[in-house]
Amino acid sequence: MTTVLAIETSCDETAVAIVKNREVCSSVVTSQIPVHRQYGGVVPEVASRQHLEIINQAIAQAMDESLMDWGQIDGIAATCAPGLVGALLVGLTAAKTLAMVYEKRFLGVHHLEGHIYATYLAQPNIDPPFLSLLVSGGHTSLIYVKDCGIYETLGTTRDDAAGEAFDKVARLLKLGYPGGPVIDKLAQTGDPQAFTLPEGKISLSGGGYHPYDASFSGLKTAVLRLVQNLEKDGEELPIADIAASFQETIAKALTKRAIACAGDHSLKTIAVGGGVAANSGLRKHLQTAAAKHNFQVLFPPLKFCTDNAAMIGCAAADHLSRGHTSPFTLGVHSRLPL
Ligand code: KG4
Ligand code: ZN
Repeated sequence: MTTVLAIETSCDETAVAIVKNREVCSSVVTSQIPVHRQYGGVVPEVASRQHLEIINQAIAQAMDESLMDWGQIDGIAATCAPGLVGALLVGLTAAKTLAMVYEKRFLGVHHLEGHIYATYLAQPNIDPPFLSLLVSGGHTSLIYVKDCGIYETLGTTRDDAAGEAFDKVARLLKLGYPGGPVIDKLAQTGDPQAFTLPEGKISLSGGGYHPYDASFSGLKTAVLRLVQNLEKDGEELPIADIAASFQETIAKALTKRAIACAGDHSLKTIAVGGGVAANSGLRKHLQTAAAKHNFQVLFPPLKFCTDNAAMIGCAAADHLSRGHTSPFTLGVHSRLPL
């Protein structure tokens, strides 16, 4: 058994957790969304300052709730990439300091590896290989999970991430931030077939389309044009129909790519993660397609889909139990391939 205190501060959540292998002993997540909402999105400098203000309190709370003492902690981990540099630095520096003071092993974890490991928190009996579909505000990735630390990214987005597209479309429909949950709710009352929107295919030089890569910026522009045309005609915006049509297009595009990718690589399980995994349209399409094509689809509970430190601790526990550690000279990176 390896017990880890893990810290996640890559964006706008200050999170600390204690994890024993795949078991969560405590998980504290403090969201900064109310602070950033007034600016319509995450402001990096504000995020760093917020992390700094509450990180020590979050560490103390995670320790208290786990009912453990420092003697029971084997290692300290933190997200080191990718993310907002100033925000990452707060968590990584706190983790290094704790590891030095309490003489623990230290490990930096890639944020996307954390999202992959979130699957194990809800399904501790799942093991690789499987296909991970990570859909969040910052990422849209199809990752072939082969073993601990052995990943192959098979598909990505060429521009906006899926969650980013939800946020941008919500902004142009004046629905506030974050956009995903509002669009999801509105879409329940709209007609998903009301408007035909472009799916965003990536052309290949030899002809045809990339089977796994997506592009959502054209879709966002198409929604903008649609809104402009409807407004020009003086019509009242059918917001629910627009939301439903937009959500339907994204959900279908992601489902098609995930199913093709899993099938081509003979993978029978698709594990979904990231904030957009909460989307009801995506869940419906993936579940229907999975039943038809005989795949297993796993959706962790939302608290492990969105950013949290338990997923970072779970990844770190696996690495530390295999003898992997990071040097104290480890830095942070805004971008870093998995
Ligand atoms: O994983 P996450 O908490 O943070 C990142 O790592 O980015 O994901 C946040 C993203 C936001 O873009 C938010 O709009 C989106 O997830 N999101 C949703 C839903 N709930 C959150 N998108 C679509 N439908 C939802 N129900
Ligand atoms: Zn994330």
